Amino acid sequence: MRAIEIVGIAETKFGKAEGSFRELAVQAAQAALEDAGAHPAQVEALFLGTFSPGTFIKQEHVAPLIASELGLNNVPSSRLENACASGSTAFLSGVMAIAAGAYDAVLIVGAEKMTSTPIGETTSILAEAADWENESSVGLTFPGAYALMARAYMHKYGKDRAFLDAVAIKNHHNAMGNPYAQFHREITREDIAKSVMIADPLNLYDCSPVSDGAAAVLLVASDVADRFDKPGIRLLGFGQASDSLALYKRENLTSLPAAQHAAERAYKMAGVGVDDIDFAEVHDCFTIAEVMATEDLGFFGKGEGSDAVLAGATGRDGKIPVNPSGGLKAKGHPVGATGVSQIVESSFQLRGEAGERQIEGAEIGLTHNVGGSGATCVVTILGKAE
Ligand code: COA
Repeated sequence: MRAIEIVGIAETKFGKAEGSFRELAVQAAQAALEDAGAHPAQVEALFLGTFSPGTFIKQEHVAPLIASELGLNNVPSSRLENACASGSTAFLSGVMAIAAGAYDAVLIVGAEKMTSTPIGETTSILAEAADWENESSVGLTFPGAYALMARAYMHKYGKDRAFLDAVAIKNHHNAMGNPYAQFHREITREDIAKSVMIADPLNLYDCSPVSDGAAAVLLVASDVADRFDKPGIRLLGFGQASDSLALYKRENLTSLPAAQHAAERAYKMAGVGVDDIDFAEVHDCFTIAEVMATEDLGFFGKGEGSDAVLAGATGRDGKIPVNPSGGLKAKGHPVGATGVSQIVESSFQLRGEAGERQIEGAEIGLTHNVGGSGATCVVTILGKAE
C-alpha cells in the first residue's frame, strides 16, 4: 500500500460550546491546515465523520456545507456515518482514497453538536445507533446496554465495582493535563459513591458526557509529505470490523469481537505486536468499555483488565498507558469527532507535543474507536515517520 502520513492536526475544546456545528468543524479544519502549513488549494477531497446532525441540529448534507465554508467548493466532499466510530470511518475512507492513488492530500474532519437537545431526546437519538426494532424501542439505551456488559463482566470474573471507579479516577486525572478536555476535575471514590445512578451498576462517573466538538487531520501520501511544515506521523496499520447491533445476538457480553478482529488486522498490517505499543487511546464511552478494550486489544488476558487498572498498569507511568488524553470519559465524547480526536491526540504524543500528558519516548500508538455497543470497531496503529 502507498505510505500515508498525518501532517496537520487540530481539535476544539470539547464540552458545551458556544459555536455551532459548522463553526466547530471549520475551526478544527482551518487549524489543521494551519498546523501543516497547508493552503486550502492543496486539499483534494474532504471526508466528514458525523453521527446525527439531522436530528441534533436539523441539518443534513453537511459535507458540502463544511467544504464550502472552508472555500473548498470544487473538491469532492462526503459524509461517513458509523455511530460513534464515524470519525475513524471517515479517516479510513481518506486512507483508501490516497492508497488507491486518487488523491495525494485529503482533509478528514469529525464533528458533533450534541448539547442543543434536552438530555432525554439526546439519549433517544443516540439509541438510534442500536437495533431500534429489537432493543432500543423497548427501552435499551446505551447506558443500559453497557450496564448489562458491566454486570456480565462482574458476574463472570467475580469482581466488585472498584475497577470501574479506577478507570474513572484515572481518566479524570489524565484530563487535568489536557487543555482540550471537557472536565478538569479530579474525582475520588467518595465522589463516585455519592453520584447519581444512571443504569445500575453505572453511575454518573462511569459515563462519558454529552459534548460538542470537532477534530481534523490533513492526511497525505508520504511521497508529498515534504510539501508540508510538520514531521509526518505514519499510518502503520489499520483494521475495521462489524458485528450485530443487537446485544441479544452476541455470544457473550464481556468482549467485543469486532474490536478483536479490527485489532488483529491492524497488528498484522503494521507488523507489530502488543508489546510494541507505547500507549493507546481507547473508546471508554463507559468505564467498563475501557477494561474490555484493554482485553480485546490483547494488553491483558480475559478478566485481567480489571485487576490491571486497579494495579495502575494503564496509568501514565504504567506498563501500557491507556487514554493519556482523559479518554471519552473526561476529555468528552462529541460522537462524530471522537475517532478523529483519538488520532489527533496520538499524533500529539508521537510528535512529543502532548505537554503535561506526554508519554516519554512514545514511538508507536494505537487508537480504538467503537460504534454503538460494538457493531463497528476501527483500530489504527500510528508511528513516527522514518
Ligand atoms: N461525567 C462526569 N460529570 C458529568 C457527566 C459525566 N458523564 N455528565 C454530566 N456531568 C456533570 C456536569 O458537569 C454537571 O456538573 P455541575 O453540576 O458541577 O455543573 C452535572 O454532572 C450535571 O450535568 P447534566 O448535564 O445535568 O447531566 P445529565 O443528567 O443531563 O447527563 C448523563 C448525565 C450521564 C445522563 C449524560 O452525560 C449521558 O447521557 N452520558 C452518556 C452519553 C452516551 O451515551 N454517549 C454515547 C456512548 S455509546
